[in-house]
Amino acid sequence: MSFSESLLSLRLSIDYRSKPGVLRNLALQMRRGEILGLVGQSGSGKSTLALAILRLLGLRGGVSRGEIRFQGRDLMSLSEREMCELRGRQIGLVLQSPLSSLNPALRIGTQLAEAWRAHANGNREDCTRSILAALKSVSLPEGERFLRRSPSQVSVGQAQRVLIAMATLHRPPLLIADEPTSALDTITQAEVLRLFASLNRELGMAILYISHDLLSVASLCHRIAILHEGQIVECGETQQIFAQPTHPYTCQLIEALPRNPFESPDRGNTPGQQAMETAGVPAHVPTGKSQP
Ligand SMILES: Nc1ncnc2c1ncn2[C@@H]1O[C@H](COP(=O)(O)OP(=O)(O)O)[C@@H](O)[C@H]1O
Ligand SMILES: [Mg+2]
Repeated sequence: MSFSESLLSLRLSIDYRSKPGVLRNLALQMRRGEILGLVGQSGSGKSTLALAILRLLGLRGGVSRGEIRFQGRDLMSLSEREMCELRGRQIGLVLQSPLSSLNPALRIGTQLAEAWRAHANGNREDCTRSILAALKSVSLPEGERFLRRSPSQVSVGQAQRVLIAMATLHRPPLLIADEPTSALDTITQAEVLRLFASLNRELGMAILYISHDLLSVASLCHRIAILHEGQIVECGETQQIFAQPTHPYTCQLIEALPRNPFESPDRGNTPGQQAMETAGVPAHVPTGKSQP
């Protein structure tokens, strides 16, 4: 990957006091505008990596060493103030449990307005305009009535859309989504996956999509990185990972699937469509052509 293509490039080792070596000299690179799936079993260190990129690992008591280059800047050398500027504006974050990520005491509109003001100067009208545009981009009702609701008055799926709207209000070049569909039912999961695909397509936003679910990753992502025993053991184009997995752990993951979404000669669809259907997700297909 050439320097100009690279959005994020990192090499990290991470320890918790009670659990040293969670990540061991892990290397990962992301291109501008791509959706990269990070797959690993529960406890493999996916959330640890997400927090480390945002330099939030201290909150969990973790210590990271290494290098994180994002848009040519070395994030490890930035001050906390500079990181605050960057979080939300340059890198958005969406977490697993939408309801616990929203403040139950504040109206949806108030929380969106706070997220907007964190990185923008402007009057009330500018703020309202940005919020309504963000709600539209995540297919939520754009009316004042919706903004007046409290988190307890919306569904889990709507709450996750609110959080995605919040994370993308400032159109960051990178969105990190850490198991964003795990708390959702299958239909809502499929809708949220479609939403990520459209945010990527329409805003050119790169997405680090973290999941333990290889099928949903296959349906959405241009490339996949497999995390195992503290390292990325394999990383490549989605179709290539399925067609020619090289690491035994990747082979094991693929064999454990009910079926290989890229292997069904008797059907006329493209491999991407088959992957989508297997994961219950129609629409966006990560073929070679759609890649950035
Ligand atoms: N604050 C912490 N202190 C000690 N160990 C932790 C802490 N947070 C996570 N771990 C451990 O680090 C490993 C990776 O955790 P995590 O990044 O949350 O995994 P994942 O997101 O892949 O499920 C797990 O074994 C977990 O138990
Ligand atoms: Mg996690």
